[in-house]
Amino acid sequence: MTDQPIPVIMDCDTGIDDALALLFAVRHPGLDLRAVTCVAGNTDVDGVVRNTLTVLEHAGAGDVPVARGAERPLIEPVRVARHVHGEDGMGDLGLPAPARRAVDVDAVTLLRREILASPRPVTLIPTAPLTNIALLLRTHPEVTRNLERIVFMGGAVTTGNATPVAEFNVWHDPEAAAVLLTAGVPITMYGLDVFKRVLVPAADVQRLRAGAEPRLRLAGELLAHRDPATSGDPTPTGGLGDAGAVCAVADPDGLTTELLPVEVSLAPGPTRGQTVVDRRPHPGEAEIHHGTREQPLVDVALDVDVERYVKLWLETVEGI
Ligand code: BDR
Repeated sequence: MTDQPIPVIMDCDTGIDDALALLFAVRHPGLDLRAVTCVAGNTDVDGVVRNTLTVLEHAGAGDVPVARGAERPLIEPVRVARHVHGEDGMGDLGLPAPARRAVDVDAVTLLRREILASPRPVTLIPTAPLTNIALLLRTHPEVTRNLERIVFMGGAVTTGNATPVAEFNVWHDPEAAAVLLTAGVPITMYGLDVFKRVLVPAADVQRLRAGAEPRLRLAGELLAHRDPATSGDPTPTGGLGDAGAVCAVADPDGLTTELLPVEVSLAPGPTRGQTVVDRRPHPGEAEIHHGTREQPLVDVALDVDVERYVKLWLETVEGI
């Protein structure tokens, strides 16, 4: 155990809940955010770069390098999520344009540079389609020697959102997700099963919205935009979404995981993009008749301590 902060790099498609994740990552004392890379997903990649820079400026972290990455998935077309994240990908809050620009190297180059330059192995946190990460792993496989692990938001054990069985980040670029799962480094899948559960209560959202600092008001407005509107209460609660994956890096004990075989369905048709998680206690007829196949083992999040992560996120972002 070391008291030094964990070096982390985030790969985002900012995105309302990516923004909530960034606001947390820059302020948590146990994390050292060394770079942020951007990829098309929730909105187009130029919008993602703009949103990421704006959020970092609001958070007082204007010196973290940001790079533009893939503008479309490996095979699929771009299919943005404006119905969830607004026209600008940030809830159409009318945020100012950022004062600075992305670095003049692409995301894969920045990822390689920052991973290899880190004095201690880096934890990579993708909260977006996995296109940049797949390109990195195929272009510069040597980076894995300085990766501690990858904690990604994506996939689902049970129900999907983009399709009945596929989660958006994996569905957006299934081939890239398949490359990630075979990276050969420890991987944690923070999937929809836990992602959807971490909700900030309405009173906390209201307090943030009335906050004295722009960072707090931004956090409150973003959360209000993530209201799942399931309670019938007119005051919005707010889903932390992607931010939960960063909480899981800062405080792994809040997450219950199990090492399980996971495979991405790459077949065309209704299962494309599904993360098939094998939770069977014994081999089935498929294995008995055809033998076992090699499948990557992934630490799959099965349960989350909701109160613990909400408290951690609020205390970190509010600076309590
Ligand atoms: C994922 O898709 C996006 O809407 C969120 O930012 C999150 O990364 C959830 O499926």
